[in-house]
Amino acid sequence: MQLYTWLDRTFFADDSAKTESVKSSGKALIGGAFTLTNQNGEKVSDTDFKGKLMLVYFGFTNCPMICPTDLAVITGVLDELSEGELEKIQPIFITIDPERDTVAQIKTHLENFHPKIQGLTGSAEEIAAAANAYRVFYQKVEAEDLAQYQMNHSAFMYLMDKNGEYITHFRHKQPVEEIVASVRKHF
Ligand code: NI
Repeated sequence: MQLYTWLDRTFFADDSAKTESVKSSGKALIGGAFTLTNQNGEKVSDTDFKGKLMLVYFGFTNCPMICPTDLAVITGVLDELSEGELEKIQPIFITIDPERDTVAQIKTHLENFHPKIQGLTGSAEEIAAAANAYRVFYQKVEAEDLAQYQMNHSAFMYLMDKNGEYITHFRHKQPVEEIVASVRKHF
């Protein structure tokens, strides 16, 4: 948990300043083009979601706690929205562990969460490019006492507008009702 607190400060030490600079320059600092493969094996790009808000989260399916918690939060948010509202938002989970997170692995994992979530994977290069665009930090951690490696990663949900431009982000375990309220302001 310490690491994520540290990342919070490092990456978003001054949220208001970052938001201001996004507004004043008119240029998104976070976000960008991606072309990846979803859990049904279909190629998808950011442009496929034009006209909808995107709620974008980077993580990995073997994550012991952080990602499942946040996917549960995203599911809680989607459960609060009406059918009409659900049409206007695309929740996206992008793996930062493409080595283990195959299309099939992501499909199985996402069965535990809201069916609207698209889970994306790709080559190491494709994932690196997407993570880079979203300023997402991730790093493989190997340790002798770990049967399997872990991934350290920043854990923010990014809310992107209908043109794929950054609006705001939500932190790990942010209350569902706060996220719902923020999302509704931007439909
Ligand atoms: Ni995680």
